[in-house]
Amino acid sequence: MKRFDKLHTLLFLALACALFSACNGDATTVKSEVGAPASQAAYSEKHRPQFHFSPPQKWTNDPNGMVFFEGEYHLFYQHYPDSTVWGSMHWGHAVSKDLAHWENLPIAIYPDSLGYIFSGSAVVDWKNTSGFGVNGQPPLVAMYTYHDMKGEKSGRNDYQSQAIAFSNDKGRTWTKFEGNPVMPNPGNVRDIRDPKLVWDEQRNQWVVTLAVGDHMEFWASPDLKKWSKLSDFGKNLGAHGGVWECPDLFRIAVEGTSEKKWALIVNLNPGQPNGGSGTQYFIGNFDGKNFTPDPAFLPFVKDGKGVWLDGGKDNYAGVTWSDAPGGRRLLIGWMSNWQYANKVPTEAWRNAMTLPWSLTLKKTEAGYRLFAQPVKELEALRTASHELASSAIASELDLTSQFKLPSALLEIELEFALPTDQKGSFGVALSNPKGETYRIGFDAASNQFFSDRTKAGEASFSVDFAPKTSVVARSAKFKTVRLHLFFDVASAELFADGGANVMTEIFFPSEDFNTVKIFAEGGKAELLGGKVYQLKSIWKK
Ligand code: FRU
Repeated sequence: MKRFDKLHTLLFLALACALFSACNGDATTVKSEVGAPASQAAYSEKHRPQFHFSPPQKWTNDPNGMVFFEGEYHLFYQHYPDSTVWGSMHWGHAVSKDLAHWENLPIAIYPDSLGYIFSGSAVVDWKNTSGFGVNGQPPLVAMYTYHDMKGEKSGRNDYQSQAIAFSNDKGRTWTKFEGNPVMPNPGNVRDIRDPKLVWDEQRNQWVVTLAVGDHMEFWASPDLKKWSKLSDFGKNLGAHGGVWECPDLFRIAVEGTSEKKWALIVNLNPGQPNGGSGTQYFIGNFDGKNFTPDPAFLPFVKDGKGVWLDGGKDNYAGVTWSDAPGGRRLLIGWMSNWQYANKVPTEAWRNAMTLPWSLTLKKTEAGYRLFAQPVKELEALRTASHELASSAIASELDLTSQFKLPSALLEIELEFALPTDQKGSFGVALSNPKGETYRIGFDAASNQFFSDRTKAGEASFSVDFAPKTSVVARSAKFKTVRLHLFFDVASAELFADGGANVMTEIFFPSEDFNTVKIFAEGGKAELLGGKVYQLKSIWKK
């Protein structure tokens, strides 16, 4: 039953909400305010991210329907416009021309009598296979899950089904298909959701990956309306501490070769190594019917083990953009964790997205692995930059005083020698006048990267938030240790060793961090060089 805990918590929250206000998921009664344009939100509230997307007001969880079309990166998102806790789900909507700046738009898809609008994906139907196109223009088609709250409350088990909607005006307005649901619940399957569409160009078919409790299902369609089942995957592979959610399936080139593989992303809640929600993946082949993991990958996903996309606690439900230009594979995740997402101490809004990533596939000693880099477009946020020369750091180097940094909104690139004695730890520490400290870095003795928010401020809202330091084993062998870090008001993202290991974590200092230091403990750290970039807010002119 454990796997249903989250939805039960959500159900409880929704019920509590319904007692007090109009949280009804029926289109005829919902009177949701339309999401205000970002320009009308202050974006200067306590803990408000300055270069990450967060909704102007109220609740968000998963990113949905990411698709690039006519110069715009669309980001839809699970959104409850009436509350800062999870409830009747809508698809909120934002667009970006450069993956760095976001413009929030009115809500795209509202719940109706078939249910809340849960997570899903969107594609450009270039060949107009659906027939939804007009005037020779391809439509955008979204596929999402209906979650029928009334059905769930009445004790039914068939309350999730899959549906489609289309847009002929660059995603601004959406029409739900009259034949919905296109994939009714097969009967008594409680968890069947989060359809991720991909055009399988080798076979000329649409393929959708569906998360079904403890496995994935692949289905095919010629027109996005009629679906037939292809296969199942994963019942006995990967991590299974909770329910599988939010899949993604895509073809990706092995860097530096003409070889192509398929990646399958599987979000899991709960059950990630540091606790709660996390994202695992598989590399293998998809032959138009079955997904088969690469033989070298198998040992890493046997006996309940998983290969993880992010070693921190706060990157969940990440999936990739359809049709990203230049053949790029771009991903964005939800920067939170179901263990505490409903309780984090923010007021006007709750939760934000990660930075957009660019994924590549590399052949490493351990086999194929995804590497993640922050998208290069984020360089547009840099204002001043400062060089760090090589030096031996005995205990600390105060970057704030050395470079007169006006804030801790920073991007920092550091390269350290790998300690030959396998001792000591080093990294970056943020602190404030209240004595609160956040630390992120590398520990040579355990060969792990770590993120320590145990003393970083407010944590009492959840026992699961900061009981211990999060760690992830260093997965690649390089002669030096490279830390590429982004610090926003309430988050840190570490891209280590060129993206071999990533850690994303949020924090809530009671006063903004204003001092940034490189620290070394248990021995001198040999800094080989680095750069510090001050970053500007994307919300303030
Ligand atoms: C993942 C998830 C999805 C679901 C959505 C509901 O975080 O549970 O499986 O569609 O959130 O908001």
